[in-house]
Amino acid sequence: MRFPEDVPTLTDGVVTLRAHTVADIQPLYDVCQDPEMQRWTTIPLPYEYQRAEQYVTELIPAGWVKGNSWAWAIDYDGRYAGTIDLLPEDRIVGEVGFSVAPWARGNGVGTRAVKLVVRHCFDEGFQRVTWRAYVGNWGSRRVAWNSGFRNLVTVLGSGVARGVRKDEWVASIARDDELEPQGRWWKVPVIETDRVRLRPLRGTDAKRVAEACSDKRTQKWLAGLPNPYQLEDAEGFIEGRLELLASGEAVSWAIADPETDELLGNVSVFDLKNRIDKTMAEVGYWAHPEARGRGVMSAAVRCAIRHAFTPVEDGGLGRRRLVLFAAEGNAASQRVAEVNGFTRTGRQRAASPGRDGEFRDLHCFDLLATDEWPGKSPETS
Ligand SMILES: CC(C)(COP(=O)(O)OP(=O)(O)OC[C@H]1O[C@@H](n2cnc3c(N)ncnc32)[C@H](O)[C@@H]1OP(=O)(O)O)[C@@H](O)C(=O)NCCC(=O)NCCS
Repeated sequence: MRFPEDVPTLTDGVVTLRAHTVADIQPLYDVCQDPEMQRWTTIPLPYEYQRAEQYVTELIPAGWVKGNSWAWAIDYDGRYAGTIDLLPEDRIVGEVGFSVAPWARGNGVGTRAVKLVVRHCFDEGFQRVTWRAYVGNWGSRRVAWNSGFRNLVTVLGSGVARGVRKDEWVASIARDDELEPQGRWWKVPVIETDRVRLRPLRGTDAKRVAEACSDKRTQKWLAGLPNPYQLEDAEGFIEGRLELLASGEAVSWAIADPETDELLGNVSVFDLKNRIDKTMAEVGYWAHPEARGRGVMSAAVRCAIRHAFTPVEDGGLGRRRLVLFAAEGNAASQRVAEVNGFTRTGRQRAASPGRDGEFRDLHCFDLLATDEWPGKSPETS
């Protein structure tokens, strides 16, 4: 291979991948100053101008000539917008890596660039392309998901950045696979009523989550919660919601005060990938002790029900049936189910383990999309 003559130019009409030139040194250096770039990649730190110079004028050309690394400049909107590279390895399996300039992010540039490289690899006879990212790099994971990478696994400690071991996500795509998303990646819509605002949980909710989940009543009825429940448990809970969205398993909202945006509780629609019935889901919730006894949870569950029964093509979860369980003695939770139109279908005996070592009966409720439920038509919400 000769550089730059033999570097193939790849384009989909919006994004063009081409050989780097010296004009890319400055914008590439600028991208490497971005905190996200430094956090999620292995670039050396501090990243000096000479490093960018050496990368563009020596390392990239050498990679092409030796055939052990193919790096393209990404052009978007008429200028350099990032770099994508492929480690061709044995030319049977290659590994893709990419970065997009902060100004160009969120426009599908990363996804377009990855698809172009993956298609190119398959045209060149590769069998598979792999992708890896440090756990928590949601933007990169989304690009991989958008491009059809699948069978994601987490490999503990398989990555290393500047001497520190990191957990990694790894996924791949094979030559016969479609370059399309596999499975659902749910979104958390903001839903407002005069009583509550349902919105995504965020890091700053951790303190309120920890207060709510340390509360005696929450601890009593949700016996699976850690005890004591610490701030890091709350942070893990919040981060864990992102994984449930990305894997299509659950949608979970912060219930917030519409005036102050302070967290009042949590409502979730989960088991969305139930093995037997993919049209059902379970509803679960807990309230912060300060928010109890004033109809907050009933209002929030009503919003969650409506979203659950809204067809997927209209932005909802496309559910046909919801179930809800509340332990014997948990009158408040059973009431939330009843005021929202759930039907009591029976009880599972001694099904709910308590912290006292006792097993209480579990009351079972369900609600069908075809039932009448308060809030079914918008006027009654
Ligand atoms: C990862 C990166 C390349 C994404 O580039 P991009 O051009 O913004 O990618 P796209 O626009 O094609 O797709 C990004 C998607 O991720 C979403 N996203 C971004 N941050 C997210 C987050 N924290 N959580 C969930 N989704 C997120 C965007 O909304 C977008 O979603 P969409 O597909 O619904 O539009 C870019 O953020 C980057 O350069 N980061 C630093 C370097 C890096 O991490 N490289 C990858 C190393 S493995």
